[in-house]
Amino acid sequence: MSTQGRYSRAAVALGVLSTIIVAAAIPSLWTRLSGAEVAPSSSPAAKDDPHRSPIALALSLDGSRLLVANQTAGSVSLLDTASGKVLHELATGNKPAGVAISSDGTRGVVTHWFGYDLALLKIDHDRMTITGRVKVGPEPRGVVLDRGGKTAFVAVGAANEVARVDLETMRVSARMAVGREPRGLALSPDGSILLVGNARSQEASVISTQSLGVFRTIPIEGDNLRQVAISSDGKRGYIANMKNRGFATTSNNIDLGWVLGQRLTRVDLDTAEPSFATLSLDPRGKAAADAHGVAVSRNNKFLAVSLGGTHEVMIFRTDGRRLPWRVNGSRDLLPTELLSGDGRYRRVPLGGRPTELAFAPDDKTLFVANYLADAVQVVDAESARLIRTIPLGGPSTLSLARRGEILFHAAERSFNQWYSCNTCHSDGHTNGLSFDTLNDGRQDLSTAHLRSHKKVPTLRRVTHTGPWTWHGWQTDLEDAMLDSFTESMQGPRPSSEDIKALIAYLDTLEYPRNPYTDPSGQLSAEAERGKVAYRSAKAACNTCHGGPELTDGKIHTVGLEEPDDAYRGYNPPSLRGLYDKDPYLHDGRSKTLREALAGPHSADAVSGLGELTEGELADLLEYLKTL
Ligand code: HEC
Ligand code: HEC
Repeated sequence: MSTQGRYSRAAVALGVLSTIIVAAAIPSLWTRLSGAEVAPSSSPAAKDDPHRSPIALALSLDGSRLLVANQTAGSVSLLDTASGKVLHELATGNKPAGVAISSDGTRGVVTHWFGYDLALLKIDHDRMTITGRVKVGPEPRGVVLDRGGKTAFVAVGAANEVARVDLETMRVSARMAVGREPRGLALSPDGSILLVGNARSQEASVISTQSLGVFRTIPIEGDNLRQVAISSDGKRGYIANMKNRGFATTSNNIDLGWVLGQRLTRVDLDTAEPSFATLSLDPRGKAAADAHGVAVSRNNKFLAVSLGGTHEVMIFRTDGRRLPWRVNGSRDLLPTELLSGDGRYRRVPLGGRPTELAFAPDDKTLFVANYLADAVQVVDAESARLIRTIPLGGPSTLSLARRGEILFHAAERSFNQWYSCNTCHSDGHTNGLSFDTLNDGRQDLSTAHLRSHKKVPTLRRVTHTGPWTWHGWQTDLEDAMLDSFTESMQGPRPSSEDIKALIAYLDTLEYPRNPYTDPSGQLSAEAERGKVAYRSAKAACNTCHGGPELTDGKIHTVGLEEPDDAYRGYNPPSLRGLYDKDPYLHDGRSKTLREALAGPHSADAVSGLGELTEGELADLLEYLKTL
């Protein structure tokens, strides 16, 4: 198969996106709101100036230019770091997710999470133009450029691949299979090694850019892997991530760091055996949430981690006493010695949702993309102070949905700010993990029996797919949201205004385009046969997974019940976007669709009318991928 064509058949042309927007420097309302307070709604948000929601940034080698990917505005901003001015903003595509800039600052690339492509930007002093576009595959995010700016590497999240893009010919020249949902990427300074964080398979992949293969997979015992960085000597990789601990969601377990916690993970790139070390980031009583960005200064003096949920950056100083790394494991909480105030560890409150980070060549100035603040912030690592906020533009009032988005990412809505909705329902989807959120009426007190753990459901189109929870006992979404705050988050009771805002945000969550379908809607012969099997008397999938949302909204017993279930039966989940909902079934027991449908949820298990033949099953699986 040609490496180029794998997804191109499915790709929809982006249309003309040549509109040039000049950024209006309207300061975000966020700067006047503290934490996740929700302001009373006044007038509807101005439609003309969208939220920018910067999710990623890249700094030129000399530190003079900053490229910023604005996720909700579909644009890239070019900043002059000396003056703090937005020089230019350009519409580039559907949900920008990653950016990179060539060392000489004349070339940039941006990936589009929902657009499935990479756009090449020519940067001429204070202007950008799009000079080409390459389809790279479904849900690309992290991207890096080699030194010469001629090759890009892209983490293609839903394909579990890293794509190498030749920017001279504008073609994908290689694809490398990595772990589940690759997201963050970093290239070693000599360009020989590419470090990839796989968000959903607890491991980092190390790729040789010469042989174009993964030569090492480092299990890091961590989840939700986000930004990845490599030290200037090429010896250490750093990853911002979360770690799922597996205990029930009670306030006591949360505070011990036994439900989940944030980590700065270091991977050693110069050792014979794969090894990693961690710093747990949560002090008891005032935790960290949603580790997202990571950066290391070129002189290795500072390490910085951004925390989207607790709206801050943590700065670690490494030139004095050693940092208390835990090798090949992790502690429950932040090592208490770091709380002694000796300057090794500081927290800088920033508001909003800090995402990616980059250090300037002066080794102390830290640039922070802040999604919910619609701004780039500048932090001085020496003094641990916010020194400047550069607004990227945005509406003058917050819509109900944006206020819901703020709540969704607000860890102060959970017990001692350990996590946000976004920790589990990453970007409104699922992080693929299971938790015991006490929403099934049962609680397992030991990790030996994880039966009351439930797979985190996606929230895409969730406002259309009641009743809610796996058992489907929640028939009112407002009540369900109250429980999400008070049970899943063990946090304070929300106001009815909060709940309305949150639901308005949930209502915006949509599936990305299915990469397995043709834009014309035509199915392959196998999938066409699978569609017939789906509706056959023997399988009868459509009786429960039918209708526009592929669920009948009723409760069924399909043989997966347990004697001590508090609620009888389960609500068939919507089968939309199934290819990206692994692992499957309420407890995530099946890693693949085949495992679920050849095993616990086979046609016979559900209908009792006998099994599908191997051929029918293969066809059915082809069809299910297209839903
Ligand atoms: C610790 C992880 C975690 C956190 C934090 C969390 N959830 Fe959930 N969420 C889950 C799990 C697990 C389920 C399934 C529970 C069940 O069915 O028993 C779920 C279920 C849901 C559902 C029902 C989905 C459906 O299709 O039935 C909604 C809606 C939801 N969560 C929204 C939220 C919101 C909003 C927040 C923040 C206020 C939140 N969740 C916080 C893990 C989490
Ligand atoms: C009698 C109703 C019923 C029928 C028929 C049925 N299902 Fe299900 N399905 C369910 C229920 C209920 C669940 C949730 C069960 C659980 O996870 O414990 C489910 C779960 C699933 C899941 C897991 C989804 C996820 O997000 O983890 C898949 C996949 C699935 N069904 C596919 C199928 C296919 C394909 C068929 C036809 C071969 C089928 N189902 C037939 C009721 C049904």
